[in-house]
Amino acid sequence: MAISNGGQYEKLTLPESVEKWVNDVWRGIDAKLSCVAPRVRGKIPYSAKDGVFDDKSAWPLVWTNGFWPGMMWLMYAATGKKLYADCALEAQSATEKALKHYEYLSHDVGFLFDITNCAHYRLTGDEHSKQIALLAANTLAGRFKLAGNYIRSWDGKWKEYETNGISIIDCMMNLPLLYRASEITNDRRYRDIAKAHADTAMQYHVRADGSVNHIIEFDDEGEYLRSLPGQGYGIMENAWSRGQAWGIYGFILSYIHTKEQRYLDTAKRIAHYFVANLYDECIPVSDFRAPDKPVLYDTSAAAIAACGLIEIARAVPKLEKKMYLTWAIKILKELTNRFASLEDNKDNILEGGCEMYDSMVQLPLIYADFYYVEAFSKLMGFDILMW
Ligand code: GLY
Repeated sequence: MAISNGGQYEKLTLPESVEKWVNDVWRGIDAKLSCVAPRVRGKIPYSAKDGVFDDKSAWPLVWTNGFWPGMMWLMYAATGKKLYADCALEAQSATEKALKHYEYLSHDVGFLFDITNCAHYRLTGDEHSKQIALLAANTLAGRFKLAGNYIRSWDGKWKEYETNGISIIDCMMNLPLLYRASEITNDRRYRDIAKAHADTAMQYHVRADGSVNHIIEFDDEGEYLRSLPGQGYGIMENAWSRGQAWGIYGFILSYIHTKEQRYLDTAKRIAHYFVANLYDECIPVSDFRAPDKPVLYDTSAAAIAACGLIEIARAVPKLEKKMYLTWAIKILKELTNRFASLEDNKDNILEGGCEMYDSMVQLPLIYADFYYVEAFSKLMGFDILMW
């Protein structure tokens, strides 16, 4: 296996005290994951109970099954430790089998195969992983609907709704697999599809005030019909914080891959709405437009948004960087102080995730851990841009 090549992206200049703190947290993350990784072997975690990861490696596939191996690749890229690569390979090979079960593959093939096989190929040149990544990219591209210019998110029914004409904001995070496929094959089809979807999302998912509709629906001719409440509080005008976070990180990633200014502007607009809703707490509630009680936090939204804010800080001119970086650091400090455990007696890092507002449950989520670790790898300058 080739040597890892983390550190390809700009390391942001941090205030001295923050630099020291980031270093300390990073050392804690690496120490913890070095102990946790061997005992997770054979499992693909989604959540944890009493500090012990569960296992979602059995069929059917879960959209989150890329995050554990993805986190292992991220740690391998940053440290070069073979343990992390071995754990990544084992967990991703369990997920690869899913590509044979075509009928269960939604747009989440991006989440599943970008930070796993595609990252593996980028890090080591592995041909098998390249083929898996391209197969996944073709599956995603095949979901594009010409009538409406969007990628269909799901199949079957979601709650009482048919999903034939549905796009969800989360798909912005699946687009980087298409950008990578164009890079790998030198074929612009994938990139064109990604941009067409991003433009539709910009028009219909993002509202004028910077808040985001989670789910939108088109009719068979591609005409916009309506938005649906999705995973946020049960009103059409809700503002599900993880949806806002997918929007921030997703649009800045489209900017990074295309350099189209409108995607940067959109990421900034959503970010402004997001941070304006954090108040003193710095941790988002599950929906910014839910009643004050009960208080349901979502640490996954916090960690995803922190990654997006760091990327915006990298992308904007020098005098604009401070605001985005300051907010990313505020969020990460609050996550670390109130919700994180870097002790190795617990498998998960973060508590306080929320799958959807209606669940009324706070729990550890593997994707909250992934984005928390990713945000610190960016601040350390170890990043390969996993997406
Ligand atoms: N992509 C599904 C979720 O964010 O819950």
